[in-house]
Amino acid sequence: MRVLIASDHAGYELKQLVAEYTGNRGHEVVDLGPASGEAVDYPDFAHELAARVGRGEAERGILVCGTGIGMAMAANRHTGVRAALCHDAFTAEAARRHNDANVLCLGGRVTGSGVALQIVDVFLAAPFDGGRHDRRVHKIDLNS
Ligand code: RB5
Repeated sequence: MRVLIASDHAGYELKQLVAEYTGNRGHEVVDLGPASGEAVDYPDFAHELAARVGRGEAERGILVCGTGIGMAMAANRHTGVRAALCHDAFTAEAARRHNDANVLCLGGRVTGSGVALQIVDVFLAAPFDGGRHDRRVHKIDLNS
């Protein structure tokens, strides 16, 4: 699976870990930055990644900031992007099965690395259940 990943400074360390882990699991990982932990503005990275996912350049995206909140807010402005802030494997599985989430948001200051990697595993493996959820997901985008 092609996975785009980006962060801000507060998510930089976790981004590096998740990128390496995801690559080692056999996925094609494209790191959109930043390249260091210097302070940056999270919307710049969220918009870059979300625009690409919205255009279909990758099946999934992963965004990491301090809480994951700002990244989710910015990414969800893009049509076709369903960004989910997940704190555990349960929310990650529901985000995939019920919401067909295509962008995972993580909080580098909130979620420990072990739980974060568990979330990533579930997010990349769990299918969308479709059926009644398909109808609901199609109602999310206002212009669809
Ligand atoms: C940066 O200090 C912090 O505001 C950012 O990483 C994120 O948590 C915003 O939602």
